[in-house]
Amino acid sequence: MCGIVGVLGKGPVAELLVDALKRLEYRGYDSTGVATVGADRIERRRAEGKLRNLESLLATEPLSGDAGIGHTRWATHGKPSEANAHPHMTDDVAVVHNGIIENFRELKAELEAEGAPFTSDTDTEVIAHLITRELRAGKDPIAAVRKVLSHLQGAFALAMIFKGYDDLMVAARQGSPLAIGYGDGEMFVGSDAIALAPFTDDVAYLEDGDWAVITREGVTIHGRDGSVVDRTVVKSHAAGLMVDKGNFRHFMAKEIHEQPEVVGHTLAHYLDIANYRVALPDLPFDFADVGRLSLSACGTAFYACFVAKYWFERWAKLPVDVDIASEFRYREVAMEPGGAALFVSQSGETADTLASLRYCRAQNQHVLSVVNVRESSIARESDGVLPTLGGPEVGVASTKAFTCQLTVLACLAIAAGKARGTIGPELETELVKALVEVPRHMAEILRDESLTKTWAHSLSKARDVLYLGRGTSYPIALEGALKLKEISYIHAEGYAAGELKHGPIALIDESVPVIVIAPQDELFDKTVSNMQEVAAREGKIILVSDANPASVGCAVQTALPVPTVHRFVSPLVYAVPIQLIAYYTAVFMGTDVDQPRNLAKSVTVE
Ligand code: F6R
Repeated sequence: MCGIVGVLGKGPVAELLVDALKRLEYRGYDSTGVATVGADRIERRRAEGKLRNLESLLATEPLSGDAGIGHTRWATHGKPSEANAHPHMTDDVAVVHNGIIENFRELKAELEAEGAPFTSDTDTEVIAHLITRELRAGKDPIAAVRKVLSHLQGAFALAMIFKGYDDLMVAARQGSPLAIGYGDGEMFVGSDAIALAPFTDDVAYLEDGDWAVITREGVTIHGRDGSVVDRTVVKSHAAGLMVDKGNFRHFMAKEIHEQPEVVGHTLAHYLDIANYRVALPDLPFDFADVGRLSLSACGTAFYACFVAKYWFERWAKLPVDVDIASEFRYREVAMEPGGAALFVSQSGETADTLASLRYCRAQNQHVLSVVNVRESSIARESDGVLPTLGGPEVGVASTKAFTCQLTVLACLAIAAGKARGTIGPELETELVKALVEVPRHMAEILRDESLTKTWAHSLSKARDVLYLGRGTSYPIALEGALKLKEISYIHAEGYAAGELKHGPIALIDESVPVIVIAPQDELFDKTVSNMQEVAAREGKIILVSDANPASVGCAVQTALPVPTVHRFVSPLVYAVPIQLIAYYTAVFMGTDVDQPRNLAKSVTVE
């Protein structure tokens, strides 16, 4: 979603704001803007499109001012345009906002009736006008903000600066994340610690309902009722997390290639490799006592949960519910008190996943999370956290975060099986050995991408693509389709191979590539039957498998070979070719691979 930043600096801050926005661009990139306050007025610069457009504008129309705020936007209300870009301001105040003000229509109607001149279609602009109304009624900025906050419904992280006050910034959090950064004679706010990493690693996270009065001397944080509250200052792990592409053309390519290494790090964290044993930290519950495990997440993280469902059920004989978080949160699911709920999120900030977590807490569940960002809201609100050791993921399409999530979940499934007596020492050794070999198999696939690259050229001409898989390859088929559509904009769907004949087979003709994910496991022959059904209707089969394509008894247009692996770890290994398929197709299509249209890396609105 949107990213916000604020700096009370020792000198002009426009450049610092842009530097911080570079680190937040993954949250949204359809427009950007900054505003600074000088001796007598607030000035702003805004630009539609990527941050480089704002940088060019600032080069020709620089901003002075030692205090300022900045924003990178992912549009919710109002199309991407300069007029809708933040900061939104009047002569008296400028505001940046991440989130959604749900009651903005009522507030806007009220303000318009009073003559407030609106210049955008955004929900945020009401905040600037509401504060202005209070300031003009004689309140000081702090009292004005306090009054206005009590009128706002919805989710927000806000930072505000005021005309005539170049040593004051007010920030507030309700639902959307916000961090305060502590400098030496300067202070910062940002949507996350990554934005603040160039300036400071001392950060405090606001909690829901908090609002903060910031000067260069420090910060006073108030809770919802106005009382002063203490929020611990912690050392952020985010320093140096601004990564570059190295020799790769895109972050996504780099992140795909990092997988052998980061999956290896994650395995080393959760396994006793020398003895082929799992070695997890203490969990907030004992799997032996758990009657049912509830998993929820969004998008790619949901598909990681979906794979894990097969693992927990098969290897630990543990009943599992898996849900898309945006559905789960409103389903009013009945839960046995004392049950276990697991949430998976790269960013740790996804609004629907966080809301599902809070629902489960309210149902007295033990809450465990798998996150890539350790300082995130989901991590902080969990009883136990299992971090993925993927490092920062910049490409909007998740790759290494997905395989690291699978890695943690695989270790957890083995731990669950041990605790429940379904995995004895021999089986544990077998499964752990299989996991330890995963980085090597991934590296083998990544050593020669020429076939995928060549074949992706023909896929880039397709209008529709189907992905099929059975068992744990079914969620991988879903993930393959998601990856292709989000970065190449080609329509793609994933299906359980056995479901094909119940409807989707009507789509098959000679123009439709069908990518079949078929490791040679106990379901292989069943998948082969489904391939034959496709071939009989002249569908173009692309077989992603360790099987010899000549052995499947039907015409295979292309075979992308995968090493033979233990069936337990096949989702981890098969994730790599499906990422490469999407990546090279998008490269041929000439899309913006790392920042595809309409998407944002961290979805902090529902
Ligand atoms: C797709 C993708 C998204 C995310 C989803 C959840 O490539 O990245 O589907 O997986 O938005 O995000 P997190 O994991 O941050 O909760």
